[in-house]
Amino acid sequence: MTGSAGDDFARRREEMKRRINPLDRELLAGNPDRKAFFDAVYNMADGDAAAVPWADLKPKDKIAEWLAKNPGNGKAALDIACGLGDHAEALEGAGYKTTAFDISEKAISWATQRFPDTSVDYLAANLMEPPKDWKGGFDLVNECYTIQSVPPPLHDKFARAIAALVKPGGTLLVYTRTRPQDSTHDGPPWPLMPSETGIFAELGFEAVTRERFEIERPDRRISHEFGVWSKG
Ligand SMILES: C[S@@+](CC[C@H](N)C(=O)[O-])C[C@H]1O[C@@H](n2cnc3c(N)ncnc32)[C@H](O)[C@@H]1O
Repeated sequence: MTGSAGDDFARRREEMKRRINPLDRELLAGNPDRKAFFDAVYNMADGDAAAVPWADLKPKDKIAEWLAKNPGNGKAALDIACGLGDHAEALEGAGYKTTAFDISEKAISWATQRFPDTSVDYLAANLMEPPKDWKGGFDLVNECYTIQSVPPPLHDKFARAIAALVKPGGTLLVYTRTRPQDSTHDGPPWPLMPSETGIFAELGFEAVTRERFEIERPDRRISHEFGVWSKG
């Protein structure tokens, strides 16, 4: 299994993007939830993390910084759509008893291979049909880049499904790309508009902090929001 940074890693990633972008457009027509696409990416990658465009192989800095200040002390956490497991491991490392799931069985088997001694409970599951006993079951829920990864008509459903998993009094982290209200955007991904990042206020949450920031790339700046929400 390959997975180190460097020029060759970047080259393999670009090569994979060239292969998967047309495939994504092709699959989207018949698979609006993109499961077929995510499965195809994890399967085609064949153990090379460079070929999974969203795999940083480490948690996002802002999530890691928040966890350093908010240890779990055994509280229950859920990582939504965990991919290769870096956020799940960060949650567990911060003292949360962590469950992590992804719709792709391949992502789950890959995550458990990467972290053979893990105490995270990894499983394949669909956010739209989660186990019934997860409802209101988690003190902390971490959502990073999942809502934006499906087409806009699904955003509201995904946000509501995520919100339902948080325990009353619990915390929801939402890390996402953003775009101006009603702007057009040719995804994927489909960054969230203010009406979409703000939906949690309508779902019984209070914003603790909502940090807007930009990630610099050589050719562009990518707008983001990292929201910390408390469920009433
Ligand atoms: C852009 S990746 C983000 C992965 C990870 N959260 C991260 O921060 O690196 C989106 C992930 O969502 C998963 N996914 C998409 N739809 C899902 C669903 N309905 N239920 C569970 N996982 C889903 C995909 O398989 C993929 O791993």
